[in-house]
Amino acid sequence: METGFWLERWERNQIGFHQDAVNSYLIKHLSELRLRAGGPVFVPLCGKTLDMLWLDEHGYAVLGVELSPLAIESFFKENARRVRCGPAGVFTRWTSGSLEILCGDFFDLSREDLGGAKAVYDRASLIALPTHMRPAYAAHMAGLLPSASRILLVTLEYPEGEMAGPPFSVGEREVGRLYHDWFDIKVLGSTDILAQNPRFRDRGLTRLCEIVYLLVKNSDAGP
Ligand SMILES: C[S@@+](CC[C@H](N)C(=O)[O-])C[C@H]1O[C@@H](n2cnc3c(N)ncnc32)[C@H](O)[C@@H]1O
Repeated sequence: METGFWLERWERNQIGFHQDAVNSYLIKHLSELRLRAGGPVFVPLCGKTLDMLWLDEHGYAVLGVELSPLAIESFFKENARRVRCGPAGVFTRWTSGSLEILCGDFFDLSREDLGGAKAVYDRASLIALPTHMRPAYAAHMAGLLPSASRILLVTLEYPEGEMAGPPFSVGEREVGRLYHDWFDIKVLGSTDILAQNPRFRDRGLTRLCEIVYLLVKNSDAGP
């Protein structure tokens, strides 16, 4: 998706992906990230997810990256957080305590920007990207992370052709294709969430599964 697409979605408040509650997979599987107290968690394509707030409240240092300044501003305003904002290379850095969001393009991030983070919580990034961008996303992520890094990855899968994305369907085979060069991949769980999401039934879906994976980086090699 072009960057303009997402900026416009935020301007029009077309943010059906945003959840009013903390993601249950994050709560259930956080321990898989093997975080030490206060340890850093990278949250790519973070939007204004409350998952960042939950991680912050549990004492972890959060680093998000998000294209839309509107999303970031809303996040801090809606959660009544005092925030500082300033330039950081090609990004703008928004900071509130140990919660930090870089405003800019994920593809511009470098390893230095991640400050050594080895834990990633990634919900709804792959499904936001069209097919041709996903290999570049996975490769860039691999290049950002040192070996033994762990990613909690949440995607959606539905029968191909039933709906035009986003969200796009990203199934287990594709996750394997995208990440197997660098990561060991394990499915931690999956749930049919169509009943709780009638708007997708209205868009023609007959099945909608949310799948959570654990990815563990098995080499220090990047692309
Ligand atoms: C489907 S939403 C998911 C948001 C969040 N992860 C959540 O769970 O609510 C995708 C988000 O990625 C942002 N985005 C899309 N492409 C991006 C990019 N290249 N760099 C940074 N953010 C991006 C969009 O603005 C949008 O907020």
